[in-house]
Amino acid sequence: MFPYHTKLIVIFCMIFLLKINFWTVDSQPVAICPSNATFSIELGSQGIVIFWEEPTILGSSEDVTLISQSHSNDTIFPPGVTEVMFTFTDAPSGSNFSCSFFVEIIPIDTTPPVITGCSMDLSPCPPFEQPYIEVNFTEPTATDISGSVYLQSASHKPGDLFMYGRTPVTYEFSDPAGNVATCRFYISIVHGNL
Ligand SMILES: *[C@@H]1O[C@H](CO)[C@@H](O)[C@H](O)[C@H]1NC(C)=O
Ligand SMILES: *[C@@H]1O[C@H](CO)[C@@H](O)[C@H](O)[C@H]1NC(C)=O
Ligand SMILES: *[C@@H]1O[C@H](CO)[C@@H](O)[C@H](O)[C@H]1NC(C)=O
Ligand SMILES: *[C@@H]1O[C@H](CO)[C@@H](O)[C@H](O)[C@H]1NC(C)=O
Repeated sequence: MFPYHTKLIVIFCMIFLLKINFWTVDSQPVAICPSNATFSIELGSQGIVIFWEEPTILGSSEDVTLISQSHSNDTIFPPGVTEVMFTFTDAPSGSNFSCSFFVEIIPIDTTPPVITGCSMDLSPCPPFEQPYIEVNFTEPTATDISGSVYLQSASHKPGDLFMYGRTPVTYEFSDPAGNVATCRFYISIVHGNL
């Protein structure tokens, strides 16, 4: 019943009104926080200080004030997940709005176990004309920052027989993160011992 161009004008007007409506409804400002962030720290360390960009305000930002923030920029973030929240108030409407992001701190163990009692080199004397000798040595032990340590390999045991020559004795300890510490010493039995 309307000519074609009138219909078009009506449609344009409707779109225009919808747009105005959209901007009016949307004029309540919103805060956009930084993205979630993940950091790693050495296992056993207390935490780290991180840096972030201040939240961005979209919409009419002139009358917006930051009224609280859960963490300041000198906070030491401990291992785990922490929510950082900012709350703003919009003066014209008196309404509060907030945004937050999550900081995840993951402890990583890169420290090898600590070995104690890695024997000094030994040069025992075998009895006359015997080509070997039973050698007792003190086995090393180890501790690790994670609290768990495994004896991964030992080339010899105390009381093993050692032949003439210089034999390396190797103990390897590892932790759950796969860090390895090695203790090596030599047992030397020379002809001069005869
Ligand atoms: C940020 O982390 C929180 C909590 O883990 C999660 O609920 C949210 O979806 C994450 N946001 C993004 C943008 O990945
Ligand atoms: C921490 O924030 C305060 C207040 O906004 C600012 O003055 C200071 O420069 C910031 N410090 C760092 C290290 O970003
Ligand atoms: C906004 O937050 C402030 C400070 O916490 C509070 O006094 C005020 O009542 C809040 N406004 C609204 C509308 O919740
Ligand atoms: C090594 O230790 C074992 C057990 O304590 C003992 O029986 C043996 O006599 C020792 N051998 C030497 C060579 O000291």
